[in-house]
Amino acid sequence: MNYDATQTAAGDIRRLTGRAEHHVAAVLGSGLSDYAQHLPGAIAVPYADITGFPVPRVAGHAGTAYSVELGGVPTLILAGRAHFYEGHGLDQVVFAVRAAVATGARTVLLTNASGGCGEYLEAGDLVLLSDHLNLTGQNPLFGPNDDRMGTRFPDLSAAYDPDLRRVAHDTASEVDVDVKEGVYAWFSGPTYETPAEVQMAKRLGADMVGMSTVPETIAARHIGARVIAISLVTNLAAGISPVPLSHEEVQETADAARERFTRLVDALLPRLG
Ligand code: HPA
Repeated sequence: MNYDATQTAAGDIRRLTGRAEHHVAAVLGSGLSDYAQHLPGAIAVPYADITGFPVPRVAGHAGTAYSVELGGVPTLILAGRAHFYEGHGLDQVVFAVRAAVATGARTVLLTNASGGCGEYLEAGDLVLLSDHLNLTGQNPLFGPNDDRMGTRFPDLSAAYDPDLRRVAHDTASEVDVDVKEGVYAWFSGPTYETPAEVQMAKRLGADMVGMSTVPETIAARHIGARVIAISLVTNLAAGISPVPLSHEEVQETADAARERFTRLVDALLPRLG
């Protein structure tokens, strides 16, 4: 656990953005990282300039932090994330979220792309996470606990904040964007799941399968930040989809959903402060 390193990174973020605090942080997932580019007045800081930030290496995952005031709320948008499957340790995977919280963010919006396996889900759906299944056997809190960050045994009974989910549902109806709710199962990747794995996850209660978000949720809850997460179902999961899965399909669906995603997140972020 790296409390001092996250404090150093938070100091870098304060200095490079000129903002003493951020109240909300958002992580933009696969194919969604363009979101920050349309925000007027955003100050862009490359991850490479922030001490300790891992730089993502996957197409569709940028590596830039954007600092911006949205409806008066200082917000730090993390465009691109490091994934476990890239070989980063989970300390690295959750580092940016911990640093963002160390700058003052009490609320974290996590976004991702996922494969849909819930009966009611279709490609293109935006889904609020109601809960998760950690199917990897991994946890970012393995190792000695640093009590300055949080408790040894964090409670995850409401990992995805029910009040924030209500706010997101209200916001979505106001801006006329359909939003569903479901359980997200974390697989390590980088292979997409087998059809048997998808059926297993589905029987265990998953509606979506994906390769991110869960470690960040765990780290954010550990340090006491509230979490809300939105998944874009970019494809039906393996075996449910009639065609083989590809990263190109993921990107194409993300491109097609960009306008709806932007409308929702534009309206939602200022309400999370
Ligand atoms: N599985 C895992 N991760 C994903 C998928 C999927 O089907 N689609 C987008 N990210």
